[in-house]
Amino acid sequence: MKSEKKEKIFLTQSYFKYPLPVELVEELSKELPAINQYPSGGEYTELRKNLAVYAGVKKENVFPTNGSDEVIEIVSRAYPGEALIPIPTFSQYEASADRSGLPKILVNCLVHREYKINYSEEQLERASLVWLCNPNNPTGTKIPREKIIDILQRAKGMVVVDECNYEYLGETVVDLIDKYANLIISRSFSKNFGLAGLRLGFALSHPQNIEQLANFGQYFRVNRMAEKAAEKVLKYLDYYQGIWGKIKRVRDKLVREINKLGFYAYDSEANFVLVEFKDEEEGKAVWKYLRERDIYTLVGGENEFSGLEDRFIRFTIGEDWEMDRVVKVLTEYQFYK
Ligand SMILES: Cc1ncc(COP(=O)(O)O)c(C=O)c1O
Repeated sequence: MKSEKKEKIFLTQSYFKYPLPVELVEELSKELPAINQYPSGGEYTELRKNLAVYAGVKKENVFPTNGSDEVIEIVSRAYPGEALIPIPTFSQYEASADRSGLPKILVNCLVHREYKINYSEEQLERASLVWLCNPNNPTGTKIPREKIIDILQRAKGMVVVDECNYEYLGETVVDLIDKYANLIISRSFSKNFGLAGLRLGFALSHPQNIEQLANFGQYFRVNRMAEKAAEKVLKYLDYYQGIWGKIKRVRDKLVREINKLGFYAYDSEANFVLVEFKDEEEGKAVWKYLRERDIYTLVGGENEFSGLEDRFIRFTIGEDWEMDRVVKVLTEYQFYK
C-alpha cells in the first residue's frame, strides 16, 4: 500500500513535489545539446513576451530573473534606503538588505495567531522598500487587496509584493501596475511549475521601474534552459492546474486533521502549512520526533524564515500518502509520547 512507503519524506523547502509532465521533460532534454550556446540575454525579448502573456501584461512590464530570489536581490540594490519587513516572513528580504547594506525595520505582524500588516505611518514614510509577501511565507496568510492598495497609497518608497505563491492564492494585484508607479510584483516558476532547480523568476512593474531593475541585473541572468522551459511549461497549464487543485485539497485536509489533534495549524493559501506548538520545547521535540521517523520539516529558527520562533514548524505539502504519514506520526506523538 502507498501509505506504507518507507521513503524519507522531505517537507522542508517549499518546492513543487509532484512529477513534471513526461512530455515536457522530453522536450526539455532535446534542448540540452544546445547549452554550448548563450541564452538570448539582454532584452530577453521572446521570454518576456511569453511571461507577459501568462501574467496578462505587456513585454515592457516584465523583468526575467534567475529565480525570484534574484528579484529580491536586485530590488534591494536598486532602491537604497531602509527596508520595511513584516515578520515572520521569508528570510531573503532581510538577507538581501544585509548584502546591500540597507538598514532594516522588522515589524511584528503576527499577533494572537493573526498575521496582519501593521506598518505605521512613519515607517511607510521612511522606507525606500516596503515588503509584502502574499500569501505570506510561512503563515500562508493572504493580504487583503484593500490593505495592499492602502499601503501603495501611503508608502513613499517602492512596495514589493512577493506573489511567488500566486498560483495557489489565485489573486494578484498585477492590474495595479499602471496605476501605482511604486508597485513591483515578484513571481516564480519554482513553487508552481516545478522549476526550482532551473531558477526562473520575474518582476512585473511599470516600464520605468523595469528599466531601473535592468541597470542592476547581469546581461545573461536567465540561463538558456530556463528560457526554453518557460515557453514549454506554459503549454501544460491544464496539467499544473490539476495538481494545484490537488495540493490545495491535501493542504486543507492536513490543516483539519492537525487541528483535530489539538495542535494549531494556520489556514494556508500556499503550498505549505504552519503549525504552532505549545512552546519552543514542544516545537523542537516534535521536529525531532518527525525527523527520527524520516519526516523532514523546517522548525521556526531555520534560516528560511525571519522572525519565527522554534515553537513553529512549517510543512510543505507533498502527496497525500506523505501527509497521511505526517498525521499518523503526529497522532503517535500526541497520544503515545
Ligand atoms: C516567499 C518567497 N519568495 C521567494 C522565494 C524564492 O523562490 P525562487 O527564487 O525559487 O523563485 C521563496 C522560496 O522559498 C519564497 O518562499
